[in-house]
Amino acid sequence: MARLRVGVLISGSGTNLQALIDDCARADAESEIVLVLSNRADAFGLARAQRAGLPQRAIDHEGYDSREAFEQALTEALEASGVELVCLAGFMRVLTARFVERWRDRLINIHPSLLPAFQGLDTHARAIEAGVRLAGCTVHFVRPEVDSGPIIVQAAVPVLPDDTVESLADRVLREEHRCLPLALRLIAQGRVSVVGERCVIDAAAPDGALINPAPGP
Ligand code: GAR
Repeated sequence: MARLRVGVLISGSGTNLQALIDDCARADAESEIVLVLSNRADAFGLARAQRAGLPQRAIDHEGYDSREAFEQALTEALEASGVELVCLAGFMRVLTARFVERWRDRLINIHPSLLPAFQGLDTHARAIEAGVRLAGCTVHFVRPEVDSGPIIVQAAVPVLPDDTVESLADRVLREEHRCLPLALRLIAQGRVSVVGERCVIDAAAPDGALINPAPGP
């Protein structure tokens, strides 16, 4: 069966990209990464892509007069590579409604919170400040409103009493590295449909409850 052709957009370190690279290296992978784009030439993720032998390129937003012109360059590069699904993996530019609609239901994002809580930036600091006992991450289809859209996969982790932003970010990031490949697999297997702005996932079983603190004896 033909593999789903995936384009990954990054801005930084690219650990989520690495998780996708590793998962797509499985012999029976249903997806292949055909292009990695970064809006920053110094993003370490580009080196990860290069090391994996993937086509990669920087398209610097500062080289364009408008968001639309920048996004047009992204779309042209994605189309030229025959990309069928676009994956935002730590891509830190807000996208216009035009770009989002162009890739409607073929554009996914990973966000470091349990959406719809903590949309936007500084999610871990805000989670600690709010005193929530569970934090996590979300993979979702992208809609024009920032950090919104049908949710595909979420993972929850406990917030611990002595957590710092860094320790919580590390714990969430480990789950991001499981959730993003999982979402991609589900999509590539044709098991995700968007019905009335919610995702329906074929033959998906939930994985128990996470309670923090754990109930005592
Ligand atoms: C990840 O934690 C991702 O969820 C977050 O940026 C980090 C990128 O890390 N994305 C956002 O905040 C998007 N608004 P990575 O470059 O190592 O994958």
